[in-house]
Amino acid sequence: MEQREQWGSRIGFVIAAVGSAVGLGNIWRFPYMVADNGGGIFFLVYLFALLTAGIPIMILEFGIGHKYRGGAPLSFAKMNRKFEWLGWWQIIVCFFIAVYYVLVIAWAMSYVYHSLSLGYADDPQNFFFGNVLGLTGGPFELGGIQTQLLIPLVLAWVITFLTIYTGVKAGIERIAKVLIPILFLMIVIIAVRGITLPGSAAGLNFMFEPDFSRLFDFKVWTAAYGQIFFDLSIAFAIMITYSSYLPKKSDITGNAFATCFTNCGFSLLAGIAVFSILGHMAHSQGVAVKEVAGAGVGLAFVTFPAAIATIGGMAPLFGILFFLALTFAGLTSLISINEAAIAALMDKLDMNRQKVTIIYTGVAAICSLLIATGAGLYILDIVDHFTNNFGIVFGGLLQVLLVGWFFNLNSLQDHINSASQIKAGSWWVFCIKFVTPLVAGYTGIMTLISDIKAPYEGYPQEALLLMGWLVLAVIIAGGFLLSTLKWKNEQYLIEGVKNNVR
Ligand code: ALA
Repeated sequence: MEQREQWGSRIGFVIAAVGSAVGLGNIWRFPYMVADNGGGIFFLVYLFALLTAGIPIMILEFGIGHKYRGGAPLSFAKMNRKFEWLGWWQIIVCFFIAVYYVLVIAWAMSYVYHSLSLGYADDPQNFFFGNVLGLTGGPFELGGIQTQLLIPLVLAWVITFLTIYTGVKAGIERIAKVLIPILFLMIVIIAVRGITLPGSAAGLNFMFEPDFSRLFDFKVWTAAYGQIFFDLSIAFAIMITYSSYLPKKSDITGNAFATCFTNCGFSLLAGIAVFSILGHMAHSQGVAVKEVAGAGVGLAFVTFPAAIATIGGMAPLFGILFFLALTFAGLTSLISINEAAIAALMDKLDMNRQKVTIIYTGVAAICSLLIATGAGLYILDIVDHFTNNFGIVFGGLLQVLLVGWFFNLNSLQDHINSASQIKAGSWWVFCIKFVTPLVAGYTGIMTLISDIKAPYEGYPQEALLLMGWLVLAVIIAGGFLLSTLKWKNEQYLIEGVKNNVR
């Protein structure tokens, strides 16, 4: 039986964890979330969510993975055989996310290429929805695969495959150590250029000015908590998996604080980079920033490309930097999303990394072709909404409920504190047992009610049933089903061999 793989160093682990956390969510989602949810108010609620849910759950997941030394299903099964299904729930969430997440990376890659000629600058809207996506009239009109997306799509999968195939230290840690510093440098360069442009202050004001009337708006709280879960890669098996490769004596809380603060600092930097440049565009067109700020996917692929074109002679360079940053951020996260599932299957099937990686990434890559069709954006939007708001938020809720209330949380606390400089004290227990369940439960249920009352984004009911509610049913039922399958090697479940799995 082989030893479980390990990170090469503490810093290597933190960089890989940051690589997972810092992703598409930080660069295109965060700035827009801030702008759309009361500016500075969103930011305050986001910080509250970071302190009460983000950091406590990160500590919890690092603690679980480190103590039980397994992917999410194995770790939960070792805690209590009846908890295994929650691990699989989180793994199925990872599968659905991987299938669409890779497409956003493929779009970013193709925009790196188009930045050379600023091909998107003249009519960014038509360029993105027409040329790149070939967007059809609705989620059931597939309209064929967009062949020009195939090269970046295959490239993204090949990089992911090779990295995971190579292993934890030689693959995942090594690529994160190369890509993450470059990513930070690129975003700093864009932010510095951005704030020195005329009009940037208006962009930053738009982003940060607090709208106090929204402090008690549940939508702001839902958005902030949803963002924290997705952004930090918590509640979908990743951080449990990554911490299972830590050496025995590890500073769990220190690593969790480092990962969370670096991630959120990056979000802030990305927000400054994006909004200072949007401010400049508004300034050069003589309109208010509100007029130019696009939404969601549109912000990164429609509004921002137009804004880049207003920079002047250096525009292609900044276009390349921005979309390369998006690509790097996305790739290191995509790798972690797949690693979580691959590690879980290796545990359960007692199969080696190489075999599982070939089969799993092969299947996921084939499924992702569906998102490369003309209906891809609609499907992505619906699957993303349901996996994030229900799969992740309810998965996170169940996790804190099970571990906080139906497990000896103090034993985990002792384990976490055994080698940590900052102790997870009663504040941590309070957040896990009370604050997170309350807020995640409230926001999850409110979203559920609003989705039941009115179809999400006005999509046809059949599409929501098939691509939303059915996806959710697969996550729940699949979780239970997979947990009933026999472990190929029952030894893995025995506490005594926990350091020797594989
Ligand atoms: N945490 C990753 C992101 O922000 C999944 O995109």
